[in-house]
Order: sequence, then structure tokens, then C-alpha cells
Amino acid sequence: MAVFLSRGEEKTRRFAAQYARSLKPGDVVILDGEMGAGKTVFAKGVAEGLGIEDDITSPTYAYMNDYYGKLYHYDCYRLTSGAQAEALGLTDYFYADGVCLIEWAENIADVLPENCKKVIINKVSQNAREIIYD
Ligand SMILES: Nc1ncnc2c1ncn2[C@@H]1O[C@H](COP(=O)(O)OP(=O)(O)OP(=O)(O)O)[C@@H](O)[C@H]1O
Ligand SMILES: [Mg+2]
Repeated sequence: MAVFLSRGEEKTRRFAAQYARSLKPGDVVILDGEMGAGKTVFAKGVAEGLGIEDDITSPTYAYMNDYYGKLYHYDCYRLTSGAQAEALGLTDYFYADGVCLIEWAENIADVLPENCKKVIINKVSQNAREIIYD
């Protein structure tokens, strides 16, 4: 595990864009951190790093947004079980060729693949974040 200290949203985005370069197709990344930590900001940076130009918005209501099969961005906040994710067909993409980024993955812990990567974002102050990654 390594640590990056971000001192602003833009820094998190730039760091995430760099981090994206270490990802391989099919990687599943858990984005951990409390509400407002910066998980969606991090996802925006990863998308940039993968060359996706779309505006990345929180998939809170859709549960998952699919960006060209290259990036699947999940927000599992409103899911209550892994079985529910499975019933909605959301788990299939874990085994596809895109990169999966998952917010609130703990809600579907029992259906996550083995060997997920993890990024933990901790609020240090209003604009500072500690980003722990592997
Ligand atoms: N260094 C930083 N890195 C990331 N975001 C920051 C930073 N400093 C301040 N922020 C602010 O923190 C907020 C992070 O919001 P974001 O939607 O990414 O959180 P989230 O972890 O996805 O929350 P949720 O669990 O509700 O989806 C934004 O308003 C952003 O501007
Ligand atoms: Mg979010």
C-alpha cells in the first residue's frame, strides 16, 4: 500500500488519472471512504486517465454507469445485498474487459470477485484527502 496526500479536488483527479495507467482491463477497484470523501471525484480522474471524455456523474440512482465497456462506475449505496446486485445483472461486468470502480462496495461484499484492488480515501480536512492505494 502507498499513500498520496491530495490538497484539493483537482489534485485528486490528476492523481487518479495517473493511477488509471496502472490498471488493466478487467480490474475491479473498490473505492472506499465516507460520504463526500471524494470517491466520485477519483472516478472522474480515472475516466480522464482512460481517455473517456464524458462528464462522469454519480450513478446513485442507476447503480452503475457504463462508459463504452471501458469503465463501469458503480454506486452501491442503495443496494442492500449482493443478491440484489446479482439479480440486477450488475455483477456480470466484474468479469468483463472494462475497469470496474465500485463505491459502497461493502453493501455487496459477498458477490465481489477475489483480488479486488482497493483505494481508500480519508478526509483529513476540508480540502485535504489521504489516498491509500495498492
Ligand atoms: N482533495 C480533495 N479530493 C477530492 N474531493 C475533494 C477534495 N477537497 C475537497 N473535495 C470535495 O469533496 C467532495 C467529494 O465529493 P464526491 O462526490 O467525490 O464524494 P463521494 O466519496 O463520491 O461521496 P458519496 O459517498 O456521497 O458518493 C466534493 O465536493 C469535492 O469538491
Ligand atoms: Mg460518490
